[in-house]
Amino acid sequence: MLRLVFLGPPGVGKGTQAVRLAVAESVAHVSTGDMLREAIAEHAALGLAAKEFMDRGELVPDEVMIGLVSDRVAKPDCSRGFILDGFPRTLPQAEALDAMLAETRQDLTGVIAFEATEVELIRRLGGRRTCSGCGATFHIESKPPKLANVCDNCGSALMTRDDDQPDAIRRRLQVYHEKTEPLETYYRGRALLRCVDATLGPDDVFQSTLASVRASQGEQPIA
Ligand code: AP5
Repeated sequence: MLRLVFLGPPGVGKGTQAVRLAVAESVAHVSTGDMLREAIAEHAALGLAAKEFMDRGELVPDEVMIGLVSDRVAKPDCSRGFILDGFPRTLPQAEALDAMLAETRQDLTGVIAFEATEVELIRRLGGRRTCSGCGATFHIESKPPKLANVCDNCGSALMTRDDDQPDAIRRRLQVYHEKTEPLETYYRGRALLRCVDATLGPDDVFQSTLASVRASQGEQPIA
């Protein structure tokens, strides 16, 4: 049973790796960013309120995010395990997650912290293109679609996320250092944290991620 948190700065590749690991391990992929973007696309009240924060590169308030994740992890698909991609992002969120899991006598099995240089993060975010239909992620250099601006999976148009503009990227990186990076200390203190060098290509990062997940379960890494 895997109950993982993926930590790391914007653009480090958390989503790319979470999609892949969730399929490989048959667990739920819980991306708070995707949940908020779905709420925006549906013109839901939550989405409209969250968009203001997201477009500025700020965090959505803790109480909103804690309620959202608490409902999501109670869904049946999470009973087989989950990867939390983008939550927690603040100390109050991390403490709320502990309380949520304690209610059902569960605990996290591991926290993977993905690391890359700021230059690489800015390159990845600036070149990211996201499918307006299925949400699949591409990159103009490292993962270009077969047809320019068209999703390989569903044929919908690719777009640049509103928060992938230079000012929002700068602010997201600042917010990450101020509010989210301290969580590494929080989880290291509980011997849950494993760091993965995310500067390599997606396949190599996936192998390192798998090795870290196996190590957190006390298993031998896959060769
Ligand atoms: P969210 O969507 O979670 O954004 P993020 O954490 O900033 O992460 P990203 O989605 O930007 O990047 P990623 O690490 O997933 O990278 P990806 O795999 O896409 O959140 C958005 C906003 O929602 C937040 O700013 C906040 O406002 C709000 N929010 C969400 N959760 C919240 C919470 N808990 N509390 C409060 N507010 C919250 O990869 C990026 C690019 O790089 C892609 O183009 C990809 O193809 C490419 N790439 C990936 N891996 C590699 C590789 N190894 N080599 C080369 N290229 C790669």
